[in-house]
Amino acid sequence: MLWAARGCFLLWLLPSILRARASPETRPSSPLCQQSPTKASCKGVGLRKFPKELGQGIKYLELSNNFIQTLSGSNMPGFGQLEYLDVCFNQLEAVSATALAQLPRLRSLLLGSNRLDRNYLANGEAFHLLRNIEVLDLSVNNLESHMASWYISNLTSLRVLDLSGNTMTKLLAGTFRNSPRLRQLDLSNNYIMEIQKGAFEPLEELEVLNLALNSLHCVSGFSLTQLRVLNLSHNALELFSSEEEGAEPYLLRVLDLSHNRLLSFPELPRAHDLTHLNLSNNLISSLLPGSAHPREFVLLYKEMQRFNRTVRPVAALTHVADLDLSNNRLELFPFSFFQSLGSLHSLSLARNCLQDVARESASNGTELSVRWLDLQSNALRVLPRWFFNSLPHLESMDLSSNSLQPCESQGSDQGRDLGGDSHTSAPGDTCTPFYNVPHLKHLSLSKNNISRLQPHAFNRTPLLSLDLSGNRDLSMPMGALGGLELSLQELSLRDNQMDEGQAALPCLGTLRVLDLSGNHLSLLPTGLSCSPLESLDIQNNHLQSLGTAGSWSHSLRAVLVAGNPWSCCSLGWLDTLRAAGVAVPDLPQARCVFQEHGRNISARITNTPHWICPQPEGAASLALLVALMSLSLLTAWAFCLLRKGRKAPGCVGLGSNRVGVFQPHPKGKGPAEERPADSITQV
Ligand SMILES: *[C@@H]1O[C@H](CO)[C@@H](O)[C@H](O)[C@H]1NC(C)=O
Ligand SMILES: *[C@@H]1O[C@H](CO)[C@@H](O)[C@H](O)[C@H]1NC(C)=O
Ligand SMILES: *[C@@H]1O[C@H](CO)[C@@H](O)[C@H](O)[C@H]1NC(C)=O
Ligand SMILES: *[C@@H]1O[C@H](CO)[C@@H](O)[C@H](O)[C@H]1NC(C)=O
Ligand SMILES: *[C@@H]1O[C@H](CO)[C@@H](O)[C@H](O)[C@H]1NC(C)=O
Ligand SMILES: *[C@@H]1O[C@H](CO)[C@@H](O)[C@H](O)[C@H]1NC(C)=O
Ligand SMILES: *[C@@H]1O[C@H](CO)[C@@H](O)[C@H](O)[C@H]1NC(C)=O
Repeated sequence: MLWAARGCFLLWLLPSILRARASPETRPSSPLCQQSPTKASCKGVGLRKFPKELGQGIKYLELSNNFIQTLSGSNMPGFGQLEYLDVCFNQLEAVSATALAQLPRLRSLLLGSNRLDRNYLANGEAFHLLRNIEVLDLSVNNLESHMASWYISNLTSLRVLDLSGNTMTKLLAGTFRNSPRLRQLDLSNNYIMEIQKGAFEPLEELEVLNLALNSLHCVSGFSLTQLRVLNLSHNALELFSSEEEGAEPYLLRVLDLSHNRLLSFPELPRAHDLTHLNLSNNLISSLLPGSAHPREFVLLYKEMQRFNRTVRPVAALTHVADLDLSNNRLELFPFSFFQSLGSLHSLSLARNCLQDVARESASNGTELSVRWLDLQSNALRVLPRWFFNSLPHLESMDLSSNSLQPCESQGSDQGRDLGGDSHTSAPGDTCTPFYNVPHLKHLSLSKNNISRLQPHAFNRTPLLSLDLSGNRDLSMPMGALGGLELSLQELSLRDNQMDEGQAALPCLGTLRVLDLSGNHLSLLPTGLSCSPLESLDIQNNHLQSLGTAGSWSHSLRAVLVAGNPWSCCSLGWLDTLRAAGVAVPDLPQARCVFQEHGRNISARITNTPHWICPQPEGAASLALLVALMSLSLLTAWAFCLLRKGRKAPGCVGLGSNRVGVFQPHPKGKGPAEERPADSITQV
């Protein structure tokens, strides 16, 4: 006992001995802080006061998530080296000049989420001493415009300033007068409605400006040519136009105008470097210049006079690679418009009202550089052949939630002739030629109400992934996927309510991922044995058995099986899968059915005792089962061993001594009420 007690003491003493050794000048250290010679972190340790005892040579101090109310102190000896101070998420409301005067080397001061709206006059005066501060976070401090202005009015070295999440309503003209070196300015999440003329003028080095989540209605004469990134998303902008005069090119690369009320494409005649333009969630109904009519605006602006001039707003946008126009009101795919965007890689027109692609003579023979095209959730009924011919680099296309029907092709080599190469889609065209699209690798035709897939519909299109899910009652005859035998790796036929007659797969020699869930299959397609499947989803079908799973299980890693009426008495396939090391992650949810006195009983597969199945020497009765189930854990364990010996599936659930057996709905469909077996009575 004594020995044990001493050992205990020794263990307790050891850390303090070590600590004492580590600080030879026996500096009193705060026990809650983690400390190295130049860094100290006291994050969320319940501090109420600035831990003055740390001191001596600390350069980096983290005090966030505490309850500190004041930074004061006539003596804060030893913080002369401090360069970085984080006091975010405290209750700071008073900062004294004497305290700050003792931090001459401070470069970064993070004070977000405090109460610096209080005592702002006195605090702000103290801030004027922070001559060398480069990074200042004053976010979420309930600061109004004039308070923010006062705080930064003498910080001439500022490079990075965060004023987000305050209550500023306007930007005053003189706010940044003394911060000419500012590079990054975050003003997001305020209530800014007005930017006074010249407010940004002193900021000649500004590169990143975030004005997202404010209340701006109009930006005209935008002239910050030095900006690289401008975020104006989530405002109420109806108009965005850049300065008309001036020859200086803009350096803007990223412009986010998403979630506004723009009616037309922004005017950016000199933004030659723009690569990323986000116009999603606006009200743009046409991309043709000057198309927005003044009466469509909520407010009136003098800039509207310019609208009936023909400007080419995109003439300069030769570097735009990424254009997001999703969630707008476009009805036509404006081909010639995108033609002037020579570097466009990624284009989203998802969730517009596209019914057709514009058939302008100008688009004859022109090509777009687009590789990734999102047209989901529109009202497209047909895409003509010329459309694909004009997108020779197309690799990925999302056409889900439209009404497109794939055309038939003649298989092998003749595909190109069908569907025509004409530049207009004939009025009678009802189908879209998805064959012979030379670089298309990923295609989604989910939810297109496709009723029948025609033979060789994707012939000579080197698809790696194809999504045909959500096409209720889709019929896919043998040969429909002909031509994809040596390319297709992922296929989804999910939620199509297909029976085995409608889901004929050819021999897909490279298929790795297959989703067949949500159908009416009682047999798997025979073609499967050709495929080196790694992942298979067959949930929610009518399968009773997988027969000889061995033929394709050698490459399989995971299979999902729940929601099928598996037969409890032919679960040999499960053994085969397990022997092959295949994961069945949803096995606990899977159920099987057995017959008892002419009725179908459903049980969890993991808990199904093997003796419910008819055996040559006479079937074990359910009464015996009930008796057995009430035996001790030892008996259960013994059975477990016995079953293991016979390679019967899963003993996993028996430890709980409860078997989930329940009565199926009449006809074996619909929800069944679960009843534990140990409470089951003879049925
Ligand atoms: C602002 O800074 C300048 C020097 O950078 C100094 O002369 C002036 O007194 C400061 N103003 C205030 C109000 O502290
Ligand atoms: C613009 O700000 C919004 C809101 O904070 C944000 O979701 C979006 O990612 C930002 N855009 C860019 C390009 O950073
Ligand atoms: C555009 O903005 C939306 C919403 O803010 C966002 O979901 C989308 O990813 C952005 N698009 C691009 C291309 O950045
Ligand atoms: C269009 O321009 C003409 C003169 O070219 C002008 O008289 C008219 O007011 C302008 N329309 C609008 C809507 O500004
Ligand atoms: C389009 O080009 C084809 C040849 O590629 C030509 O026969 C046809 O007349 C052109 N149509 C128009 C409207 O220019
Ligand atoms: C789906 O297609 C069938 C014809 O194949 C048509 O009768 C039905 O109206 C279409 N449904 C929808 C929602 O478009
Ligand atoms: C039991 O299930 C089998 C196969 O699912 C079915 O053929 C039979 O009609 C069902 N019997 C009853 C009584 O529901």
